[in-house]
Amino acid sequence: MKHYVIAIDGPASAGKGTVARLVAERLKFLYVDTGAMYRAITLKALKENIPLDDETTLIKMAKETSIELIFNNNKYKVMTDGKDVSEEIRTEQVSQKTHFIASILKIREILWEMQRAYRKNYNLVMEGRDIGSIVFPDAEIKIYLDADIEERAKRRYKQLKENGHQVDIETVKKSLIERDEKDKNRTISPLKKLSESIYIDTTKMTIAQEVQQIVNIFYEMR
Ligand code: DC
Repeated sequence: MKHYVIAIDGPASAGKGTVARLVAERLKFLYVDTGAMYRAITLKALKENIPLDDETTLIKMAKETSIELIFNNNKYKVMTDGKDVSEEIRTEQVSQKTHFIASILKIREILWEMQRAYRKNYNLVMEGRDIGSIVFPDAEIKIYLDADIEERAKRRYKQLKENGHQVDIETVKKSLIERDEKDKNRTISPLKKLSESIYIDTTKMTIAQEVQQIVNIFYEMR
């Protein structure tokens, strides 16, 4: 049986996670957050005190790591080697260090394989930076979700505050700009708008509108 893929790429804090999850819920597809996988490897490296420039050790560690993305009681959980790391992978420290892991080709290859394997059993809404370009170039629908930097900084700031982190909005904005630069300029699978992607600017949209637009696109193409 053929499984559909809705690929959602875009910069940090454009709202990909929330929208992708809700679209998946509406269509009864599996939601896969690939950023969580890069974050999980980064967190483990930090915990094990592996220097982030020691590629050989990092690759070995990644090969020996199990990552599971689980839906349980309506909650999305990220498990590394059987341990729940859902909260820990979201810290600013992990956000800022993940680019080291994301730029190692052999680690990306390990994660690409895990990501592609989901399609064997499920229709997917998968979000990240390279889903439409590298993971599933044959995805039925490719979305590039964007929002202007002020709006993305506001969203990230709100999220951090809600989770009890002390931050100021200018620092959040600066960190987002730095992450965008790194995601767009790395040599291996950088974030880019593809000519075949549908571009959605969410700056002035509600989440419900974004979800509806993507669901409509799916029903129109089917
Ligand atoms: O989506 P996110 O902010 O949780 O992603 C965390 C980091 O992982 C971010 O720096 C970009 C990187 N990433 C990537 O390189 N490729 C993906 N498919 C998803 C995320």
